[in-house]
Amino acid sequence: MTKIRAAITGVGGYVPDYILTNKELETMVETTDEWITTRTGIKERRILKGEKQGVSVMGVAAVKELIAKTGIDPKEIDLLLFATVTADMTFPATANIVATEVGAVNAFSYDIGAACSGFIFALSTGASYIRSGMYKKVVVVGGDKMSAIMDYKDRTTCIIFGDGAGAVLLEPTTEDVGVMDEILRSDGAGEQYLHMKAGGSRIPASHATVDGRQHYVYQEGSAVFKFAVTNMADISGQLAERNKLNASNIDWLVPHQANKRIIDATASRIGITEDKVMMNIERYGNTTAGTIPLLLWDYEKRLKKGDNLLMAAFGGGFTWGAVYVKWAYNS
Ligand code: UT7
Repeated sequence: MTKIRAAITGVGGYVPDYILTNKELETMVETTDEWITTRTGIKERRILKGEKQGVSVMGVAAVKELIAKTGIDPKEIDLLLFATVTADMTFPATANIVATEVGAVNAFSYDIGAACSGFIFALSTGASYIRSGMYKKVVVVGGDKMSAIMDYKDRTTCIIFGDGAGAVLLEPTTEDVGVMDEILRSDGAGEQYLHMKAGGSRIPASHATVDGRQHYVYQEGSAVFKFAVTNMADISGQLAERNKLNASNIDWLVPHQANKRIIDATASRIGITEDKVMMNIERYGNTTAGTIPLLLWDYEKRLKKGDNLLMAAFGGGFTWGAVYVKWAYNS
């Protein structure tokens, strides 16, 4: 029987216009452009401004661009997955809002919450539906409006995160391209280092939680950093080894953009030089579930059919993983 794989057949993306520079952050918290640049690699990030602008606004823009570029009829979309930790509302799912806004009237849709690994977890889910033969067109969106849960008085977190969203289309193929292999993991013990304290069912929102600034990202940066460096590099190494991938045949490392130092450690673990590492952290910062699809969006024109891509992520949960994708088209 011919093997069906899930191929990425198009990419869309969106980042808001407003640019929050390191210089502007210097006026908000006690920090310097020099500290941020050397410790993280970030120079600026995008911020979605305006009243009642949720992450769906960016998701809709990314999916509309994807539809325009691929020329599909939105009515053909079977499933739309949205990976995010900054949903417009607790419910309904942001995926439902986006699917309806883009005219995907025959689709079912739901959100996936796996923080910075959200996009690769959702890619795995979408690819499984395609491989099963049940669905033919699956849209996977990753995006976050991190500015909505950022404490702009906390210099240890507010300098890192930004807003943005990207989307890919998955379709079946019998060619030797598409999502080839993956290793995905999670460990709830990571909760203590990276979480948002209130607003969920454990500690619902109240005056006290607002006064206590508990609706923002809480992160113990150096602890997360250590777990991220080890786990993202190790899992990428494991996936590379079992697929006989190495410096000579990996065309691109596509790493989650949290900190340039974590990216460099992962590249060095699999022996890849900087020219093969997709990077846009200096312009967008950490957009959580948005980073990997936004990298594909930025680098799409440089990708060729048959290129070997190794995606890798680490984030809140903890969640982490690596996905091996063979690129399916020339732009
Ligand atoms: O994507 C989701 C997963 N998240 C991550 O992967 C993030 C992982 N963590 C990191 O990227 C880094 O830990 C940070 C960028 C958050 C922090 O960098 P670091 O090198 O780990 O710094 P640190 O937390 O160990 O702090 C070193 C010093 C401290 O001062 P003292 O105690 O040595 O006097 C901090 O108070 O740097 C200070 N500091 C700052 N100084 C200037 C922390 N933030 C800032 C800042 N500007 N923005």
